[in-house]
Amino acid sequence: MTLTDDILAQPSFDAAIRTAVAGVKAMRPAYDWVGVYLLEGDPSAGSGQAPSAGSGQGVLTLQDDHYRGQPTSHTRIPLDSGICGAAASSRETIVIDDVRRDSRYIACSLSVRSEIVVPIMAGERVVGVLDLDSDTPAAFVESDRRELERVAAALAQAWQVIPGEQPAGRRV
Ligand code: SME
Repeated sequence: MTLTDDILAQPSFDAAIRTAVAGVKAMRPAYDWVGVYLLEGDPSAGSGQAPSAGSGQGVLTLQDDHYRGQPTSHTRIPLDSGICGAAASSRETIVIDDVRRDSRYIACSLSVRSEIVVPIMAGERVVGVLDLDSDTPAAFVESDRRELERVAAALAQAWQVIPGEQPAGRRV
């Protein structure tokens, strides 16, 4: 069973996230921290529209069991903050080879050297982001990006098809 199949076989979106995070963490030793932040508080919720870029609307939130790695104090990240906020706002994957050279970066651990953030998109709607940190500089190459974008796509599909998780009208 592929990780995508495993994600889609889960009975809840919460379980799909936990499955994705555990599966991704096991992929490479260089993946030191793996987590999924979900977008909440988006005033456009229900309208089928994603928040506008740089608007600062909505907050990315990290639940206790939605990450593997060192605990972080950054459990709420506004859309106008951090690499996570930038990826969600731009709806584009962001790869940072050296986090010390990017002023947007919010440090969760001093040992982190590189980061990738992949938006989880259900159609045009931002559901959240898949965030990975590595203590290795430039740890994330094209093959990592492709694989992680597949996982994000599976999570977006899970968000749309697994019943009972979203209020009516939130589906794309
Ligand atoms: N580095 C992220 C914050 C989350 S921690 O890495 C877990 C950012 O800049 O958005």
